[in-house]
Amino acid sequence: MAEADIKPSVLILGGCGFVGRSIAMYLLEEKLANKVCIVDKLAPVLFRLTEKEQELFTKIEFRSGNLSKPEVADKCFEGSWDIVVNAAAETRYAQSDAVYKERISTLGVICARTAVNHGCKRFIQFSSARVYKSSRNPNKENSELKPTTTMHNEYLLLEQEIAKIEGLNYIIIRTADIYGPGMNNSSPMLPRIVVGAIYKYIGESMMLLWSKSLEMNVVHITDVCRATWLLTSKGESGDVYNLADKGSTTQGSLCEVLSAYFGIKYSFIGSLVTHAVGVEDAKEYSNEKHVAPWTALCALEGINTSITPYLNEELLTDYEVCVNGSKIEALGFQYIVPEFNLDRLKEVVDDLVARQQFPKHIPSKS
Ligand SMILES: NC(=O)c1ccc[n+]([C@@H]2O[C@H](COP(=O)([O-])OP(=O)(O)OC[C@H]3O[C@@H](n4cnc5c(N)ncnc54)[C@H](O)[C@@H]3O)[C@@H](O)[C@H]2O)c1
Repeated sequence: MAEADIKPSVLILGGCGFVGRSIAMYLLEEKLANKVCIVDKLAPVLFRLTEKEQELFTKIEFRSGNLSKPEVADKCFEGSWDIVVNAAAETRYAQSDAVYKERISTLGVICARTAVNHGCKRFIQFSSARVYKSSRNPNKENSELKPTTTMHNEYLLLEQEIAKIEGLNYIIIRTADIYGPGMNNSSPMLPRIVVGAIYKYIGESMMLLWSKSLEMNVVHITDVCRATWLLTSKGESGDVYNLADKGSTTQGSLCEVLSAYFGIKYSFIGSLVTHAVGVEDAKEYSNEKHVAPWTALCALEGINTSITPYLNEELLTDYEVCVNGSKIEALGFQYIVPEFNLDRLKEVVDDLVARQQFPKHIPSKS
């Protein structure tokens, strides 16, 4: 058999999360790997899995462990792996600096070193497009790096540290905000969808900070999975690739889709007023306003959901996620989901409803 016909063994770190689980499903459905193993510190039963995902976990090996500890990581890597995909990280906002260090840069360096020891031929490290300097010009891979949160500082540090690891063949993926079936609180778009539903329920117009032009570029999870697979065999070690669709999503275009879907009105208070109010006060006000009706709305259908409308301060700043995702196209990649639109929002909501994470019917109180 020619070497090209031999399918690789793939270890997916953080494989219970949105991205890791989706990549595992993709590899299985497309029959791309000889063996797939998932590692996560949390057990799959803690996640709202669809029937298809539950079936996935019967077909792959699952290993449980905290990858921030070298001896645990070594045990979780037992065997030899052609490809290691690191999608394990702390993705919740408002954690301490120490937590981000432990669960992003320390974890990533430990896993990259362990991968070398276990024969890894290609290590794929997930990073974020939020490591770039906020800009209205789409950031390319060589654009200025200037993260504004501790979380994203740790990604940058991790990128720099794994570049020093001898014998590591690796690729960095910096993605715009990811959305699609299976998304959870790790995706910045999700609380905004939940807030859209709340405004339908309370029958008020949705008011937003800043302006409609605030850049909020995104990429669909299907394209993230396809791109990850391509990068297991293409690109040179040390390469960085952005992922972002062609839709150039902004706060305005996202609200347009939410408005059409939920039948709500919206407006922006503008930069001047946002500065005057202050992001922290705006956060307190909006979260207080949203959490109670969301709880009431879910209670109507007896839903005990883990998703939340809560918007952390980091997600309410005027940081612009503006990303040029075209470099990967030179490797032959084509985005198959060009933009976020009404059909894509429907796909996301239907998936959340199926997982009993989102109410099926949203009545209007007024
Ligand atoms: N979701 C997005 O919109 C988005 C955008 C840009 C970048 N990314 C990056 O993609 C990667 C995956 O994101 P995601 O959306 O799947 O997040 P997620 O929170 O859904 O999944 C992360 C997984 O990592 C696991 N994990 C965390 N710490 C661990 C540890 N110490 N040991 C073992 N497992 C651990 C968690 O249990 C979780 O299952 C992250 O690096 C994230 O920053 C995601």
